[in-house]
This record gives sequence, structure tokens and C-alpha cells, in this order.
Amino acid sequence: MDRQTEIRLIKDVLALKAKGETQYHASTQTHSTERYVSDVWFKQELDNIFLGRPMAIGVASEVPNVGDYIALDWIKGMSLLMVRDQHNHIRVFANACRHRNARLVEHGKGGCKKKFSCPYHAWTYSTEGELVGAPDFERGFSDLDKKALGLIEFNSRVVQGIVFVHLDLDQQLPETLLADEMKSGFDFLDIEKQRVYKRRSYVLKANWKILTEGGIEAYHFNVAHRNTLAPFFLGNLSTWETWGGMDMRMILPKKTMLEASSLPEDKWDMRKMANIIYTLSPSLLFLAQPDNISLIRMVPLSPGETRIEEVLLVDAPKNGSNAWSEEELKRHETNHNLVYKILSEDWLLGEAIQANMESGVVKEVHFGRFESALTWFHTEYEKALGLDNRMIARAV
Ligand code: FES
Ligand SMILES: [Fe+2]
Repeated sequence: MDRQTEIRLIKDVLALKAKGETQYHASTQTHSTERYVSDVWFKQELDNIFLGRPMAIGVASEVPNVGDYIALDWIKGMSLLMVRDQHNHIRVFANACRHRNARLVEHGKGGCKKKFSCPYHAWTYSTEGELVGAPDFERGFSDLDKKALGLIEFNSRVVQGIVFVHLDLDQQLPETLLADEMKSGFDFLDIEKQRVYKRRSYVLKANWKILTEGGIEAYHFNVAHRNTLAPFFLGNLSTWETWGGMDMRMILPKKTMLEASSLPEDKWDMRKMANIIYTLSPSLLFLAQPDNISLIRMVPLSPGETRIEEVLLVDAPKNGSNAWSEEELKRHETNHNLVYKILSEDWLLGEAIQANMESGVVKEVHFGRFESALTWFHTEYEKALGLDNRMIARAV
């Protein structure tokens, strides 16, 4: 986000606040709950959205040094192994041994290695994915070509510190993966220089879209977050922009933004005056607060189950030191727990919503005019799903 955009966005909020308004959609939107509970919809999502398009899976700073790796539980039982190879290049492999499919690294585990040795029979792979060792290979597998037994590698690319993959092995990644405005937004957040403080992983009994929706509207702030966020934010006031696809930026202004009108423009600071959300749907949501960024990774496991991974990204230790000071550690730990506390308020609601939807008593949901980002999200979702207007009309 360049300085001009930062100023423009703050002015937009001040103007809306002065009129007592927010960013509207022209009308309300109604959808059947079918899309949150149905196996048929879920299968179509996996095929068309999660497998059929490039997807952001994480950030390069999750594996900052040569040999660093992390295993990510992914859709359809897949496990991804994100590795920084010996040439400082990030690669994404299937976390599956070419002998008999064992997992090389347990879910959620990370670290730094020169080689990955399978826990079953010790076939061993380099960080470039080549099979470099296998006990008694010549005696047992003399008719196989060792060179053809490297790890399965997905096409991947890092753009502005974000790691993109295509899970369809036959597909190349398109030249443009991020709009210029999104790139500039991630530069503004200095994503490439962030460090992982801690991560947390858990499974929720809710559809991934319900969880995403909770992150892109402020209508619920004064109610669901009355004791946590509400005292600091401007209630049901938010603005958002998109530059195509399911990517967007949302501004959730804090009460401190109102002070901007009495400050010279050079004192306006978006990081302090608002929370900024960037979504790279369907899988990633970034929540930027003044001194940290929460990366929220969503992996749908079934229509009613989603794995959530929270990764707290923070600035590297000051003064080129390798370790955070005690004061920094204390602050990061407080923020790590605070994010979880606030998200839990959303997640509890999300699980109850899912249970109600599965009961089938109330058969539709309505998005108000001021929940305009939800309308946008579902319009893009339907496009990505390949629904034509007739199917959509039937589904409503
Ligand atoms: S399954 Fe990996 S070495 Fe046998
Ligand atoms: Fe929320």
C-alpha cells in the first residue's frame, strides 16, 4: 500500500463515519444453507477451487533458512512439505514417500534438515526432492530407476513473500498471481521480513466459508466481540477493495482513526489506526495489527470440518540479534494468546451455525447491505465454482 493509498483509505473511513455509513452492496443477498453442508457442493469446491486454481498456502518466512521445512495437512488427505532447498529456493512436495507412501514428516512438524529420511524403511530424499538413499536398493529394486523416484513436486512460486502452488500437477502457475495493489499491500506489511513467533493448529466443526465470513464483516463486532474488540473499533464500519478473484483488502478502523481529522496527514498511520485484513481465499487470511500479523490458514477437511492454523508473524529481533528480548517475547506471547481469545469468539459461533445448518431447520442465510464483502465473496465463489445462473437460482 503506497502512502497515497493509505491516506485515501483513511479519508474514505472519515467520510463514511461523518455520514454514519459504511460500504454497502446494492441489495441484500440470500443463499440456501446447502452450500455449507452438502457433500455435492463440497466436492465441487475441492475440484474447482482448491485443485483447479493456484492457491496461496503460506509465507516464505515460515521456512526462513536453507534446509527449513514444514509439513502442512491439506485437502483430500494430502500433506504438503514446504522446504527451502540448498539453493535457497522454496519447493513444495507431496509429503509422501515414493516407496509405499509413508509420510516423511508428521503434520505440523517443522525444523531444519539436509535430508528427509522416511520413518518406515529409510528411503532418503534431498531438500531438492531427489531420492539419494534407500537401504539395499540395488538388491530389492534393481529394476526401478532411482532417478525417477524423487518426491512429487508441485509447481510453486513465491510472490511478495507468499508461497503459491498449483495442486494439479499438469498445470503451470500463471504469470500473474497477485494484483499490483495486493503486492504493494504485502510490501506495506513487510511480509518478507517477518518471523514466525508461534503457531497453533486445531480442527473446527464448521464449514470453511462460515469461518471466512466471520473475518470479513464488522457487523458482529459490537455484539460477538463486545468485551474484546468492540471498545477499540468503530462498530459496523469497514471498507474493502478487490482487484479480481477471491483476493481482497479490508480496513477495520479503530476509534483512534477519528483523531486523524485533527492531525496533520504526515501523522496518519494505518497500521496504528486500523486492523487490515488481506484474504487470499480460499486458504489464507492475514490480519495485520500494529505490531504483528496473524496468518490464518484454513484447510477444509469435509463440509463441516476445517483445520485452522494460526501463525503469528512478528518483526525479527531488534539490533540484528538472533533472539527476541524478554520484553519482546512477553509482548508476542500476549498477542498470540489474545488472537486466539478473539478468534475463539468467532469459532464458537461458527460451530453453532454449522450445527444449526446441518439440522436443516432454517434453510437460508441473508447478507445485509452492509455485509457487502460477504456478497462479493459469494459472487466470486460461485464464479470459481463454475455455477451458472440457473444452478444459482435453484440453489437459493
Ligand atoms: S514407505 Fe518410505 S521407505 Fe518405505
Ligand atoms: Fe470476529
